[in-house]
Amino acid sequence: MRCTICNRSYRVMESVIDLLPEELVFGNDRKWMEFYDRSASSYFKLFHRIIPVFTLGAEGRARKGWVDLLEIKRGDTVLDVATGTGRNIPYLINKVGSEGVVYGIDLSLGMLRYVAEVIRKKRNVILIRANASHLPFRDGCFDAVLHVGGINTFEEKELAIKEMFRVAKS
Ligand SMILES: C[S@@+](CC[C@H](N)C(=O)[O-])C[C@H]1O[C@@H](n2cnc3c(N)ncnc32)[C@H](O)[C@@H]1O
Repeated sequence: MRCTICNRSYRVMESVIDLLPEELVFGNDRKWMEFYDRSASSYFKLFHRIIPVFTLGAEGRARKGWVDLLEIKRGDTVLDVATGTGRNIPYLINKVGSEGVVYGIDLSLGMLRYVAEVIRKKRNVILIRANASHLPFRDGCFDAVLHVGGINTFEEKELAIKEMFRVAKS
């Protein structure tokens, strides 16, 4: 895919659009991206198979509770920042319905590849490789923005929070 404004080329893979220029992966972001690329399979097993059983569903109920707080309506367009293996995505799809769209962004391609298993070719989920501190979206284009468990390792934490506010409708 070629951008007509910056004239750069971006990779589009089977289920992920890669909008991450290499210069936006540095410091802690590079270190943790490499960690999550290596650990994606274990993370998937832990969060999608083991933790839901061992917490008797409490972890899933907690995620549902966070999503409920966003007051998402059917047909909304929502963003899950640092979506990882997509553990929040089913709860978001449940809210927006087939008329809405769920975007998931993450630095790690290894993690994003597992989201395909969760969404099973749902057409209204768009996965993008991007840095949370440099979101490739226009101002105010999402009805809701969610982030769960990742900002503690981000290289540019304050910028990431500003970016989440910037892309959310006021
Ligand atoms: C602990 S996992 C959380 C995943 C998911 N939100 C969840 O609740 O299961 C942290 C995720 O943040 C991603 N990540 C780390 N730094 C990032 C950054 N600067 N931008 C986007 N994603 C990032 C990692 O690749 C990893 O998938």
